[in-house]
This record gives sequence, C-alpha cells and structure tokens, in this order.
Amino acid sequence: MMNNPIEQFLSWWQQAKAQPNLKQRSAVCVSTIDEQGFPCGRFVDLKAVSDAGFTFCTHLGSQKGQDLRRNPKVAMTAWWDALGYQVRVKGLAYEISRADALRYWQSRSHDAQLTTLVCQQSQPLVSMQAVTSKLETLGNDFQAQTIPLPEDWGGFVIQPLSIEFLTFKENRLHERELYQHENGAWCKTQLQP
Ligand SMILES: Cc1cc2nc3c(=O)[nH]c(=O)nc-3n(C[C@H](O)[C@H](O)[C@H](O)COP(=O)(O)O)c2cc1C
Repeated sequence: MMNNPIEQFLSWWQQAKAQPNLKQRSAVCVSTIDEQGFPCGRFVDLKAVSDAGFTFCTHLGSQKGQDLRRNPKVAMTAWWDALGYQVRVKGLAYEISRADALRYWQSRSHDAQLTTLVCQQSQPLVSMQAVTSKLETLGNDFQAQTIPLPEDWGGFVIQPLSIEFLTFKENRLHERELYQHENGAWCKTQLQP
C-alpha cells in the first residue's frame, strides 16, 4: 500500500479499468443525507480523481444535488468484484466550476446531452411518451448543433477526509487500511477484518 491514498486509488482504478470482464469500471456508490437525515445511496460514474478529490457529474436539481447543496457530508463506495477491492471514502462535496462542468458536458454524447435537456432528474414521471416525443422534437431542433451546458447540470468533487481500502480474502481475513486526513497529512492505520 502506498503512503498517498489518492495514488493508491488511482492504481486500483487503473487495474479495474484494465479488467476486460468488468462492464462498469467507474461506477461508484455516492451516499448523501436526505432531508429526514436518512443516508441515500446511488451509483454514479466517477469522472476524475486527483488531490482535489473525486469528481462526478449530475443534474444539480436531482435528489443528490439538492441533498449535497443542503449538506455537503457524503460517502463514496466502490467495489471491483474481479479484483476483490473495496474502497470507502468519507468527505465533503463541493460543486465543480462551470468551466469544469462545461468540459465534462462536452465529453458526453449528443444523445446523453439531449436526454439531460428533456428530463428533470428525480421528479415524478407523468408520461414516458411525452418524454420521448420531446426528445424527438429537440433532436430535430438541434440535429448536429452544439447543445449548450444547461444551468441545472454540473458536478461535485468529493474532498476526502478518510479513505479505507479493503482487499477481500476468501478466508475473511480481509486486509483493511484506513487513511485519515489530519493536520494536512495522511495518517495510515490497519484495521481488523
Ligand atoms: C452504473 C450507473 C452509473 C450511473 N451514473 C450516473 C451519473 O454519472 N450521474 C447521474 O446523475 N446518475 C447516474 N446514474 C443514475 C443514478 O444511479 C440515479 O438513478 C440518478 O442519478 C438519480 O439519483 P437521485 O434521485 O438520488 O439524485 C447511474 C446509474 C448506474 C446504474
């Protein structure tokens, strides 16, 4: 295990991305705190990892977006079955800049951008038919034109306070390393399985 957990994460993620039998190599579970104080988890696509933290993109008005704007406390969990690796991150989420959001927006497919325009993520669905016909109309309007970044779409970066790495062992003697950020440095502790 490395001394820097970000480098450790990048090394594991790199290994996950090299796995041919893993379909979702960047899916991570992000748990927010809802208005009633319940934890609320869902998978998102991890876009980037650096010393600044863990970045994902979403509709800002979605449940997770609203939760994080109200309460930045967040957890992120990854499990790469083919490798037997679990990572747990605890931290604080901050909205990424509009310039960064634009960069991620431009990396999305035209179809994904159109769907984002048409949907108000996490709001009740009245009619799927209404959504698909709206998609068709917008698709005709935009054709191959550039779709501008919607105000309601962006991302969050999770600044980690602690990161735990677990290596799964068949005999259940899992290896667990906990990194905690204290006084500007990472301090590492091994945990019992
Ligand atoms: C593998 C996978 C990846 C996903 N990636 C994203 C993503 O990057 N951003 C996103 O907003 N939703 C993503 N979703 C959908 C979310 O899990 C979730 O249904 C949606 O964001 C609404 O969540 P909320 O109502 O809690 O805000 C993904 C789902 C799966 C299964």
